[in-house]
Amino acid sequence: MALLEVSQLDVRFALRQGEVKAIRDVSFTLERGERLGIVGESGAGKSVAAFSLLNLISKPGFIAGGSIRFEGQTLNTMSERGLRKIRGNRISMIFQDPMMTLNPVLSIGEQMVECLKAHRRISSREARAIALDKLRQVQIPSPEKRLDQYPHELSGGMRQRIIIAIALLLDPDIIIADEPTTALDVTIQAEIMALLLDLCEQHNVGLILITHDLGVVSQVTQRMLVMYAGRVIEQGPTREIINDPQHPYTQGLINALPQMATPGEKLNQIRGSMPSLSNLPSGCAFHPRCDFIKRADGQTRPACVEQVPGFVQTGNCQVACHMVAELLEDRRLKEESQ
Ligand SMILES: Nc1ncnc2c1ncn2[C@@H]1O[C@H](COP(=O)(O)OP(=O)(O)OP(=O)(O)O)[C@@H](O)[C@H]1O
Ligand SMILES: [Mg+2]
Repeated sequence: MALLEVSQLDVRFALRQGEVKAIRDVSFTLERGERLGIVGESGAGKSVAAFSLLNLISKPGFIAGGSIRFEGQTLNTMSERGLRKIRGNRISMIFQDPMMTLNPVLSIGEQMVECLKAHRRISSREARAIALDKLRQVQIPSPEKRLDQYPHELSGGMRQRIIIAIALLLDPDIIIADEPTTALDVTIQAEIMALLLDLCEQHNVGLILITHDLGVVSQVTQRMLVMYAGRVIEQGPTREIINDPQHPYTQGLINALPQMATPGEKLNQIRGSMPSLSNLPSGCAFHPRCDFIKRADGQTRPACVEQVPGFVQTGNCQVACHMVAELLEDRRLKEESQ
């Protein structure tokens, strides 16, 4: 049994204008100590997926179907009391904006001590010692001094180090990091990412890393999910997907990387933009932007416009694309006739 098992997750927002299907049929697993990346353009549903793992979707949002199982316990039907024992303790979250986690009116030490004492029966003195140890682990200069400082007195990079220290405070099994470095300067981003990776490895903590940055995903994660319009459209070992992407959308994301462009020429952006989730295109949600919708004979593949593609297995990856399914079928028929 995997540490975390997400199965056919379906998350919606009931708005006056109609229902927004933010997450549809998302399934994946995370093993202990494994690092999983979730990538996709803005609006793909990455953050909604992250929040729903801890049942943190608030009204008008709701989990409409599927399950989230952590060590065999179903989180999406668990009581708020039960969830509080898991959130921050067994599974912790790091957000893009440190101020979403840090309380501006409490010192760093007070927040860390409060968090420890909420989950463990220890004295303030013991809690302070643990907090100091975590600040040392995140290599913050003058850690003793930081305990008595307030969030606004610290730089963005230092605040994000403190967030990592807080995420690790209770020795969690999983950290969910949603764009943990995008608010930081590029030079500091790499340092913070390296620190997070190092600490997860040292403590055998599973990491779900949500990011736009395919470069980071390829350096940090072992497996990845590519999301588009609320669905996973490709998933598998990161190296396999980066080296040989199958889905036209994943191919587009990789081709759009600056390092793939010829110097002096325009970047190869995917044409068009992500559809609104309240008004999804028919069939494959990517079809209006897909350059492979036409078959070799020049005819549009009807399934792309009419049917939501299921997953096909290629190598160790799963891909939701009619074209890939067709290519695989052609190859199978060819092999059979030989
Ligand atoms: N509170 C909400 N009310 C209504 N719809 C919402 C709400 N939160 C999210 N959504 C819907 O879910 C979609 C996905 O949002 P989400 O924040 O998960 O995207 P994302 O992939 O994290 O994007 P980004 O990369 O910009 O962070 C949104 O485009 C929106 O349609
Ligand atoms: Mg987001």
